[in-house]
Amino acid sequence: MDVKNYISDGVETFEAVINGERIQWDSGLTYAKHIQTKELLSTQIPVSDKPDELLFIIMHQTMELWIKLCLHEAKIALKAIQDDRLPNAFKTFDRIAAIQRHMIHSWEVLATLTPHDFLTFRGYLRKASGFQSYQYRELEFVLGNRDADLIVVHKDDEVVFNQLNLALETPSLYDEVLRLLHRRGFKVPEDLLERDWRQKYEPNDQVEDQWKVIYENVDKNWELYTLAEKLTALEYYFHEWRFKHMKTVSRVIGYKKGTGGSSGVSYLSKALELSFFPELWSMRTRLDEPYTADDAGNPGLDSRYPTDE
Ligand code: HEM
Repeated sequence: MDVKNYISDGVETFEAVINGERIQWDSGLTYAKHIQTKELLSTQIPVSDKPDELLFIIMHQTMELWIKLCLHEAKIALKAIQDDRLPNAFKTFDRIAAIQRHMIHSWEVLATLTPHDFLTFRGYLRKASGFQSYQYRELEFVLGNRDADLIVVHKDDEVVFNQLNLALETPSLYDEVLRLLHRRGFKVPEDLLERDWRQKYEPNDQVEDQWKVIYENVDKNWELYTLAEKLTALEYYFHEWRFKHMKTVSRVIGYKKGTGGSSGVSYLSKALELSFFPELWSMRTRLDEPYTADDAGNPGLDSRYPTDE
């Protein structure tokens, strides 16, 4: 095949006609250099000689990549909320939701690993466990589920330990959402606006009341209502991920203990009780009939709404 060779923009460039298409490439930036294909594909290193371990490694690696992207996007959304750019945050939340749905579906691939397959290499894993996924932990911290005790397993990795501590010391996505409600005139308790961010967030009745107000007059509070629904979707999908993980684990190891030493499925089931945005769920039970607009299209207003005073 004829390959033309010339310099374009100072870079050695090549051209060939392949199946009728004039294909070009250059020595500056190739696909493999950009994507780092060789580096990427050199990191699947089994610790056993068992054929099913590759699936196990690739499942974890792909999940870690998607978690990396969720974390990146969650930080972008958090910044947009800090800056009161809610439409930007909405777009980002939609992307996170699409990634989450993809991650949830991908458990189907791991479900082809039978208990027999897993037992062929489980012993080789020793105490290695997803419990030690520092990206997953950071994502939980960024979203709003904080448990500072969990980072002890990273005490010997200074970079990771500092990264997790930094996440714990920074307001979470939900903390920033509550600050946003306050800026928009809702009655969020002062002690939630500045607090020790390392501490677990405790559900608050007054915050629940504010969400109730928003949901009872969506016309007046459309942006905050949309934000609340996107946060609800994010948590809904996070739980679905947790559930699929727990169910896949019970399919593969039954009620055995985990390689990380926990009670296994019982430990993972407990995590289904955790919530990033608790009042967004509890408020739903207390929700009353929505306000209706008057003849002029103005939403009904009364003492349930925050006033400017
Ligand atoms: C057959 C496959 C898998 C089994 C048997 C399994 C089992 C477990 C078990 C038993 C735990 C509890 C901690 C322990 O005692 O080890 C756990 C935690 C965890 N696993 Fe998996 N897992 C599997 C696949 C995955 C995959 C593909 C991921 C993706 C990253 C993952 C991520 C996690 C995370 C993040 C935790 C910590 C959860 C938390 O603390 O709430 N696991 N896993």
